[in-house]
Amino acid sequence: MSDAPLLEVDDLRVEFTTDDGIVTAVDGISFTVEDHEVLGVVGESGSGKTVTALAILGLLPKKTTVTGSAKWRGRELIGLGDKELQPLRGEEIAIVFQDALASFNPVFTIGSQIGEAIEVHHEIASKDRDERVVELLDLVGIPNPRQRADQYPHEFSGGMRQRAMIAMALANDPALLIADEPTTALDVTLQAQVLEVLERIQARTRSSIMLITHDLGVVAGIADRIAVMYAGRHIETGPVDQIFYEPRHPYTLGLLASLPRLDRKTHGQKLYRITGQPPSLIERPPGCTFHPRCEFARLPEPCATVVPALEEVDPSHRAACHFSEGLVGLTPERLREGQRA
Ligand SMILES: Nc1ncnc2c1ncn2[C@@H]1O[C@H](COP(=O)(O)OP(=O)(O)OP(=O)(O)O)[C@@H](O)[C@H]1O
Ligand SMILES: [Mg+2]
Repeated sequence: MSDAPLLEVDDLRVEFTTDDGIVTAVDGISFTVEDHEVLGVVGESGSGKTVTALAILGLLPKKTTVTGSAKWRGRELIGLGDKELQPLRGEEIAIVFQDALASFNPVFTIGSQIGEAIEVHHEIASKDRDERVVELLDLVGIPNPRQRADQYPHEFSGGMRQRAMIAMALANDPALLIADEPTTALDVTLQAQVLEVLERIQARTRSSIMLITHDLGVVAGIADRIAVMYAGRHIETGPVDQIFYEPRHPYTLGLLASLPRLDRKTHGQKLYRITGQPPSLIERPPGCTFHPRCEFARLPEPCATVVPALEEVDPSHRAACHFSEGLVGLTPERLREGQRA
């Protein structure tokens, strides 16, 4: 059991029954998070990133159909009830929610709310608890943490609240921190600060992090591995360098080509745009769900008829594209030039 990965997800599938039909938000994904690893999960809005995290923690609405497996240190989580999952949440796996700014209760001090998060899982003397709160606020880079602990959420700036949320998530030294889009609501400077905090935490606590974001640029400096998600599927996974320098799925290549490059003279030039919209999750396109937007698709066969499997293209690098071989050597620059021409 000891050599089981920290988190091992296998063929996870999540369906919501709605008035319009069945929404397949997560469509059979498999991945692992190892000890001390930072996994970046990247994808457009609606691709299933948050639902994946919620499914693992058993936080989806009761009527949701969740199948497949998610094992924590070898123990199956899917199917467990709140009573069994509660000790795990926050204690072993902590999540910083996307809407972190709204997550603090306005009528209690920041310090008391972080303190409470500690007390949920541990009996602790109030003096030790208060010290721990100060230590946590310090860890996430809040200046004058002792004074700040006694302030209310409205006295914190947006960026500070976000960091205080991370401090709260870290209260019990979780082995895995899931940070869901901790940066979207923030401006670029604050974004960089929050990422710095995550990096510092990782260096200090060696906890694993699953960092969920829209922005491939955000995860570049911090992730060890990246999983690119599209319409509920992982379409490419691999070490960060391979994803950036040898992408093997047209969607990943498109995301890379859409990144603004500060180090290049893209000034005055239009950025690349992946044309079209993400598909409906109720009536998915047949075959590869990306084919309607793909510049490289061969239609109808095989791209509109056969679902490409997520297959190894290099050791530890996988892509779900019928023509991933054909992308070898193709750079984001060339894709951009093609669109300009
Ligand atoms: N409770 C629900 N009932 C019905 N559909 C849902 C429910 N929760 C999520 N969905 C749908 O599941 C899909 C995936 O949602 P999810 O929140 O995981 O996307 P996301 O990748 O996190 O997007 P974003 O980047 O905008 O946060 C979306 O189409 C969403 O509308
Ligand atoms: Mg989300």
